[in-house]
Amino acid sequence: MTKQKTPAKRALIKTWGCQMNVYDSERMSDILGNMGYEMADDAETADLVVLNTCHIREKAAEKIYSELGRLRQTKEARKLGGLDTKIAVVGCVAQAEGAEIMSRAPVVDLVLGPQSVQQLPDMLKKAEQTGKGQLAAEFDVAAKFAELPKQRKTTGPSAFLTIQEGCDKFCAFCVVPYTRGAEYSRTTDEITAEARSLIASGVREVTLLGQNVNAWQADAPFGTPGQWRLADLLRHLSMIEGLDRLRYTTSHPRDMDDDLIAVHGALPSVMPYLHLPVQSGSNRILKAMNRQHTIESYFEKIDAIRISRPDIAISGDFIVGFPGETEQDFEDTMACVRRVKYASAYSFNYSTRPGTPGANLKQQIPEKVKSERLYRLQALIREQQLEFNQAQIGKTLPVLLERKGKHVGQLGGRSPYLQGVHVEAPEDLIGQIAEVKIISASTNALSGCLV
Ligand code: SAH
Ligand code: SF4
Ligand code: F3S
Repeated sequence: MTKQKTPAKRALIKTWGCQMNVYDSERMSDILGNMGYEMADDAETADLVVLNTCHIREKAAEKIYSELGRLRQTKEARKLGGLDTKIAVVGCVAQAEGAEIMSRAPVVDLVLGPQSVQQLPDMLKKAEQTGKGQLAAEFDVAAKFAELPKQRKTTGPSAFLTIQEGCDKFCAFCVVPYTRGAEYSRTTDEITAEARSLIASGVREVTLLGQNVNAWQADAPFGTPGQWRLADLLRHLSMIEGLDRLRYTTSHPRDMDDDLIAVHGALPSVMPYLHLPVQSGSNRILKAMNRQHTIESYFEKIDAIRISRPDIAISGDFIVGFPGETEQDFEDTMACVRRVKYASAYSFNYSTRPGTPGANLKQQIPEKVKSERLYRLQALIREQQLEFNQAQIGKTLPVLLERKGKHVGQLGGRSPYLQGVHVEAPEDLIGQIAEVKIISASTNALSGCLV
């Protein structure tokens, strides 16, 4: 008699927020894979739904409650068919509003903060055994990385690797120090081992991640005396055979030291791209934001990086309408953008976050004023982005081909400057770095042909 195989359980993971959440979701997928789960395409066919959430702006957080409303219906419908569904809320909303989620949405079985994702199997088991909601929101980052599976399933030639978590800077607008906890750096040996295993599984580009990635600091490897900073780590990782491209994000201007700046000019595998958020061009606002740098010191860093690596693509983040922002302060932000000339940048209306110092400030700016300023800022950024992309036309760039493109016969990849590139190429070139002649450019991407 043949033994009937029980069908594998299925899980769906939905991810919001930054790359660090993307990394955590990939790691939860590794954990669930080890538990025998297969990945589901939709909630209707999922025995477990994991929502990995972001708390950075009000809109991001509110999305979760509407998502939970829909999931309640799915869970009920599946129950009528005799199927159980477990729902987990993970990440920064879980950390910030865990208890509230449990009482506001009883449909939720598990709540896990971003530093507790490794507890998913245990908490799932407890929820199944007790039928009661489970909550874990400790800040034990060392345990998180020690307990995550050593082996990673990768899906392409480019991978994220979290090296640093948390933030001690407490910008007045920002929830991250509360949702991710204090700054923590993973050890050099742990990072090196993870990078090596990624390369062994076919990865060629690694993006090192941290909320303050350039604040990374740890002992030198294998018992060598001394403390290392990010520049040392980049030099070390660049020696791994097969690791062709290194990137890192997100950096804080204050931690952009001379050695790190020099590495951009010295190491060919460190890609010519730097995400260095400034948030505002006005010193008055930077001070109110508690950014711990001035606009002059930011420009100094940008100038030094351009001397080190003249073709570098600079990217940034901006917040418009922080409390007290005058038209002149906003004009200073526009002037900053004109001076730096960004290859790309993200910009947001200021969103009041409960529990942050910014929430208590007087002179909150009306939404209408914020939106009108954001419109002007984004128009300028788009103009610069198009200009930067168009400047590549006629050049031949090494493009890491990552995936199939939208059209048949087309692949999608990335230039050294992180621009998306569409190119007609056979599928077996996925994973290769190909020389591509750039033919056309739009605000968001380049197109080219193989040379
Ligand atoms: N650690 C990074 C960024 C973390 S959050 C840094 O220091 O730059 C990513 C971006 O979200 C920030 O750079 C900021 O531009 C934006 N952001 C953070 N809090 C915000 C808020 N309350 N309202 C609007 N945008 C915000
Ligand atoms: Fe948030 Fe500021 Fe920390 Fe960045 S440096 S994570 S913006 S508090
Ligand atoms: Fe959002 Fe948390 Fe990242 S709040 S931006 S997911 S650190």
